[in-house]
Amino acid sequence: MRDGFGREINYMRLSVTSRCNLRCRYCMPEPSPQGRPGEELGDGELLAICAQAVKLGITRFKLTGGEPLLRPGLAELAAQLKALEGVEEVTLTTNGVLLAEQLDGLCRAGLDGVNVSLDALDPQLYQAITGRPGAAAKAMPALLAECVRRGLRTKVNAVLLEENLCQVAELALLGRELPVDVRFIQLMPIGWGAKVQGVPPERALAILKERWPDLHPVQERRGNGPASYFATEGLRGRVGLIAALSRRFCAQCNRVRLTSTGGFKPCLCYRERYELGLLLRGGAPGEALGQAMAQAILQKPWGHCFEKADAVTEALTMDQIGG
Ligand code: GTP
Ligand code: 5AD
Ligand code: SF4
Repeated sequence: MRDGFGREINYMRLSVTSRCNLRCRYCMPEPSPQGRPGEELGDGELLAICAQAVKLGITRFKLTGGEPLLRPGLAELAAQLKALEGVEEVTLTTNGVLLAEQLDGLCRAGLDGVNVSLDALDPQLYQAITGRPGAAAKAMPALLAECVRRGLRTKVNAVLLEENLCQVAELALLGRELPVDVRFIQLMPIGWGAKVQGVPPERALAILKERWPDLHPVQERRGNGPASYFATEGLRGRVGLIAALSRRFCAQCNRVRLTSTGGFKPCLCYRERYELGLLLRGGAPGEALGQAMAQAILQKPWGHCFEKADAVTEALTMDQIGG
């Protein structure tokens, strides 16, 4: 359906858990207060919400978190989601640590694509940013190759910080032999991100242009997200920028979000959410969920106010929202 500004909303990001096995310094350096046990939506509840969302024209779903692979039975959930009538695409955003062991199941489930968050290939830097052993970074190139070999649309996400600017070219080189897109993300002032200094993505672009002078923008849609892409003869994959502040993309926004406890969020930036989990548990019928989502979509704000961090009303952290 269209929102109040005429934007077609067809994509929902589902945070399937707020737990994470990394402690990225801009995302969740220490665990968030977890919901009470049982507060997280079960598979049946999640699927009931998605079935109603499909009726509104939301046909593309992103499994995210926290770290989605920590949710027991994620591949089974992905398979059930894929099997819902009208669902066109199910993709995953993960830190990759548990991906190798779950790839079989996810591919059998019919997963369409995977985005791997990786801020540094250098093990020491990886550890400094994520708070977890750097060995995981070493395993990433082979993991990405395996994702491609299995036919998954594969991308890398790196949030830009002063300390990983030195990794920009090396990260982009992950797309030299493989058709892997590498996207550089501008830090957003949400949750812990508000306390960390980000780096304008144009600085990454300058580094990339110096290395690949033929780098040029391409008007391609390569997923559901807000990335703008660039191509060079030197790389099979594209490099991308996700620049919520310096290249605002709200005018093309196509998305809504569901927190792991069933909070339906029309925009990342604001605290407004519709507690679909509570509605469901109060015995509301499916149609009531659909009506609540439609109302939220009609009231979706025009865009974020990240430039004025004080005006950001969302108090949840990224792990709770689902990025
Ligand atoms: P695909 O296009 O399907 O690959 O997905 P995506 O880029 O939407 O998803 P991904 O989970 O990889 O998100 C990458 C980054 O984009 C994360 O930092 C998200 O927080 C950010 N992002 C995704 N959607 C939005 C949005 O609506 N607004 C803002 N400001 N940032 C977003
Ligand atoms: N700003 C931008 N991106 C963020 N992510 C987590 N926190 C932030 C933030 N404050 C990224 C993760 C992951 C994606 C889902 O969101 O690194 O790549
Ligand atoms: Fe959409 Fe809000 Fe993200 Fe802008 S900040 S792209 S309006 S969800």
